Amino acid sequence: MEKREQLYEGKAKRIYRTSLADQYWVEYKDDATAFNGEKKGTIAGKGELNNRITAIFFSLLKERGIDNHFIRLLSPTEQLVRKVEIIPLEVVVRNIAAGSLAKRLGLAEGTVLPHPVVEFYYKDDALGDPLVNHSHIKVLGVAGEDELAVLERIGLQVNEVLQGYLRERGVILVDFKLEFGRTPEGEILLADEISPDTCRFWDAETMEKLDKDRFRRDLGHVEEAYREMLKRLGGEAHV
Ligand code: C5P
Repeated sequence: MEKREQLYEGKAKRIYRTSLADQYWVEYKDDATAFNGEKKGTIAGKGELNNRITAIFFSLLKERGIDNHFIRLLSPTEQLVRKVEIIPLEVVVRNIAAGSLAKRLGLAEGTVLPHPVVEFYYKDDALGDPLVNHSHIKVLGVAGEDELAVLERIGLQVNEVLQGYLRERGVILVDFKLEFGRTPEGEILLADEISPDTCRFWDAETMEKLDKDRFRRDLGHVEEAYREMLKRLGGEAHV
């Protein structure tokens, strides 16, 4: 299996074609952006840390019966994944109010939600990724009602698995974002990444933030927080 031409460069990753028609090569970058690209920076070592953290989470999910695009690590900053066509929706699952939910509903950050909240955002940079409901999604024509039910069900299953796993490692899973794709056969498959870039993690003892909010809010020690998350998951970085 060989690396072929670059297909896409996103804010945090580059995707390459491979010599195999059904597999993509993903390279994780150190670049960081926030607020729809308004804030830009670099987090030293982030590419490796997120590549490894994502691999651990996707392997865990696969073990627990939640299939996803991850195949195997290729290098400290690269992984091999199954080819999918990404559905332009971000599926956010929340256990505790923070970020945009705290703002939208006027809840204090840290308010424990009585049940997990699932939200959809339409992936469109020009629109600033707006929150959308089932009717909006039907108008946009990006996913069917039956597919939305699958996305919600898998989102809640991922939440159950990750919440339990992280609790045992002294980490509170506040919220996270998932992306899904369709395989060439039309099957919905969990894809993209699960990392401190896409989740909120709080230390269960100190409530210290161990995620991208350190970058978004200029809290400092960003790299250390990502490194700490990899350590809690039992992984090791070589950078
Ligand atoms: O900003 P907001 O509170 O809506 O984010 C909810 C969750 O989704 C957070 O864990 C955040 O890191 C993640 N997210 C993301 N990519 C985005 C927007 C949010 O990974 N474009």
